[in-house]
This record gives sequence, structure tokens and C-alpha cells, in this order.
Amino acid sequence: MTSPIAHFNGELLALDRISISPLDRGFIFGDGVYEVIPVYEGVMLRAREHFERLQRSMDEIRLANPHSVERWVALAQELLAHHPGNQSLYIQVTRGAPAKRDHVMPQGLSPTVFMMCQPLVTPPREAIESGVACITAEDFRWTKCHIKSTSLLGNVLARQMSADAGATETILIRDGFLTEASSSNVFVVKDGVVAATPRDNLILMGITYDLLVRLAADGAVKLDVRRVAESELRAADEIWLSSSTKEVLAVTTIDGRPFGAGVPGPLFREVYAVYQKRKRA
Ligand code: PDD
Repeated sequence: MTSPIAHFNGELLALDRISISPLDRGFIFGDGVYEVIPVYEGVMLRAREHFERLQRSMDEIRLANPHSVERWVALAQELLAHHPGNQSLYIQVTRGAPAKRDHVMPQGLSPTVFMMCQPLVTPPREAIESGVACITAEDFRWTKCHIKSTSLLGNVLARQMSADAGATETILIRDGFLTEASSSNVFVVKDGVVAATPRDNLILMGITYDLLVRLAADGAVKLDVRRVAESELRAADEIWLSSSTKEVLAVTTIDGRPFGAGVPGPLFREVYAVYQKRKRA
């Protein structure tokens, strides 16, 4: 099989021709940020919003962005020309490769820029129609979860807990309140009102979350952005997950027990249908 084309520091190269210094701060410190953009039939969904979030992540870690949003979009489109169909576009920028390992941020270093595509695997019909299983765990990550950092060990450990339990996600609780899941945002529905956790430093401000909030605001869905206690999570009528690759999914099993009605709820079905229409628009 030929190696897929990827973007590396301004060039399009076969993935197996790209090599990165072991001193790269992305490798040594996880000192970098990333984005994942869903691509439907060659068209990125909310590209500008993703590259604007990349800018915010870079500002937070004091890394100068080598490209404007417009340039990023153009570079992404050049790569996508080699990857037709539905794709998950991955973008990573690290602080670059200095001459020696030192925690202090080196000055004047060129960042390492990498982009690749993988076929977008959206959830199977079974997951949409029957819902998915999740477990819950204490949120043991740091308090800068709004940065889309490549330092993902906390998220990896959390996700593995659900993988070990045969579940789709690990929903995280910090000090008795819902934050998010290991790689998605979480919504909770009670009595027809959708609650979404606030966009603070304890969650990643999901681009899908933002889209769902907008769709809810345009439609009949009542939405409340506020902290959600663990007890409310457990007593909810519906729980949803959202992310660029999961789109929106209903949770029907929590910690090994059937949750709610045991099937995706009516508001989920409504918001799922609106999302599908919006992504094709
Ligand atoms: N993850 N929260 C976390 C911790 C995430 O990692 C993600 C996405 C989200 C949802 O964000 P968005 O709607 O912008 O995809 C929330 C991506 C898909 C990943 O790391 O692969």
C-alpha cells in the first residue's frame, strides 16, 4: 500500500517520508496544540471556527501562529485534494525542535507543522439507534482543559478506562460536577431542557458543542448553560455526547446499568436530525 500524503512544514509528502527530531518539544514535552476537523465530501465543517480555536490554543501556550486562518484553510484544502470523500483532518503544531532539552521556552524556534487525513468513521447506525455505553470517573486532568493540547495523557488514561469496560466514553466529574468526557462534550436533558456545561477552563469548548448550542437556539430546544451536578447527570432523562468525529450520540448505559428509558430520547432524535441536515448544508 502506498503511504498517504500528509503536510509537513509547508510540504506535501508521503507520510512514511516524514521524520521528526527526537528533540522536538512535541515529543519531549507534549508541547504543542492540535485540531481535528470533520470533512464531508471534501468540505470542512466549520473550518474557520476550528482554526480560530487553534489560534486561541496557541495564544494560551505562547506559541506564534505561523499562518493566518485563510492560509490554514488553503493549506488544508491542498492536502484534502489528495483525500476525497469523508475525512478526519488532523492538524498539529508543536513548539519545534531546539538543540537541547530545557523546560524554558526557547526563543526564535520554528514551530513544527503537521497535517494528515484519516477516513472519517462516523458512529455506526446501531450506536445512533440504540445509544452507547459510558462509564463515569473523577476528572483527574489539569485545569487548562480549554487548551486543545497534545499533552493528552489524562484523556488517554480516562478513555482507556471506558475501553477496558467495553464502553464508548468516560464521563468526567470534578468536585461533584460534570465537566466533559475524555474526548467529547456532554449534554444533559431534563424535562425538555438541555443543560450544557459552561465554556470555562475545565472543558474543551467543542466546535460541535457550539454548533449544537446554535441549532438549539434556532429551534424549539430550550438550552441552559450552567454547572451540572453529578446527581443531575444520574437523574437526567437524556445524556448526549458531542464531538467532531462522534457528531452527536445518545448515552443509554451508565456504569454498566441501563440509563433513562434505555433508548435514545425524543430530543436526541430531533437534534441528531438537525445536525445531519446542517452538516450537509
Ligand atoms: N476531540 N472535549 C475533548 C476533551 C475532546 O478531545 C473533544 C474532541 C471534544 C469535542 O470537541 P469538538 O466538538 O471540537 O470535536 C471535547 C477530538 C475529536 C479528538 O481529540 O480526536
